[in-house]
Amino acid sequence: EAIEKGGFDHFMLKEIFEQPRSIADSMRGRVNADTGLLLLGGLRDYLDKLAASKRIVIVGCGTSWHAGLVAEYIFEELARIPVEVEYASEFRYRNPIISEGDIVIAISQSGETADTLAAIELAKSKGATIFGVCNVVGSSIARATHAGAYTHAGPEIGVASTKAFTAQVTVLTLMALAAAQRKGVIADSLFRQLLVELESIPAKVEKVLQAAEKIKEIAYIFTYARNFIYLGRGLNFPVALEGALKLKEISYIHAEGYPAAEMKHGPIALIDEDMPVVVIATKDSSYEKVVSNIQEVKARKGRVIAITTEGDTQLPGMVDFTIEIPKVHEVLMPLVSVVPLQLLAYDVAVMRGRNVDQPRNLAKSVTVE
Ligand code: G6P
Repeated sequence: EAIEKGGFDHFMLKEIFEQPRSIADSMRGRVNADTGLLLLGGLRDYLDKLAASKRIVIVGCGTSWHAGLVAEYIFEELARIPVEVEYASEFRYRNPIISEGDIVIAISQSGETADTLAAIELAKSKGATIFGVCNVVGSSIARATHAGAYTHAGPEIGVASTKAFTAQVTVLTLMALAAAQRKGVIADSLFRQLLVELESIPAKVEKVLQAAEKIKEIAYIFTYARNFIYLGRGLNFPVALEGALKLKEISYIHAEGYPAAEMKHGPIALIDEDMPVVVIATKDSSYEKVVSNIQEVKARKGRVIAITTEGDTQLPGMVDFTIEIPKVHEVLMPLVSVVPLQLLAYDVAVMRGRNVDQPRNLAKSVTVE
């Protein structure tokens, strides 16, 4: 097992560090920024249908559902197709409205999650076209779909999903770009720019991983916190949810992810000097708004750990700790901004002596309802 961990203490840490490669593998043979080509072989015959669809419904569970929330922003932004994201377990029991032109995208690392599989069968019976985004080749979900695009993250052993999430977001971004291009709603210059930016993501993730020591020091300070709040806006809102989920899963600390502006409608009541608040405050279109949300937290003595864009000179003087990440195109931000949150959750869990790779009560794949 020590050999399988490749020198890392846990599979989860190995998988976090594998992300530059697993993201690149999920693009390999699909993206070529030099020629401006984007190919998704498994969807070739379905691209017209995707581009013509009036609505996309995304289903998944856990971390895969979070990848779906990221995809909602990206599909709507780039391809201008309305998207709904549903927990598979809710979708399957509420007589959902599905019509024939609808596309359902099922996201699943294992390809075996019972609720997601049942959601597919239901949508199929109502005439939807189903695409899969799975990591395990030949899995039940991959076989139940009409078409799809595999993530190529490689086997994920740690129960808390890390590299599967970034691979899912990568593939879903490619799908949205392909749909936007086929639909003719994306400027060629933006399309080309995003392909170039996509190819730069593995190196940027590598750069975030170099902050591992600093993140460990921050984790040490908050090891015994009893609660955490995670805040983000736009595409970083699902990242806040995912950061909170990681911490809950492996450290057993209660954590909530919230859209930063929604904090004032509830969670703000929880903030005092004992409350760590992780804010994803990257330089994007909502930066100024997030800065004022941070001020609201600081005014109540909350302790802020901010994920900032390299070179940000404003936030270091305002917050307790910063973790810098490289500048990334806004649409691709989650691929990079989630990485420090994975490391933070990992470090806190290790410092609390938790069984990181096999947390209590959780299973890698949930094949019963
Ligand atoms: C379990 C795992 C999670 C995972 C979820 C969905 O709860 O512990 O890490 O996100 O199932 O699994 P799937 O294989 O469908 O992505």
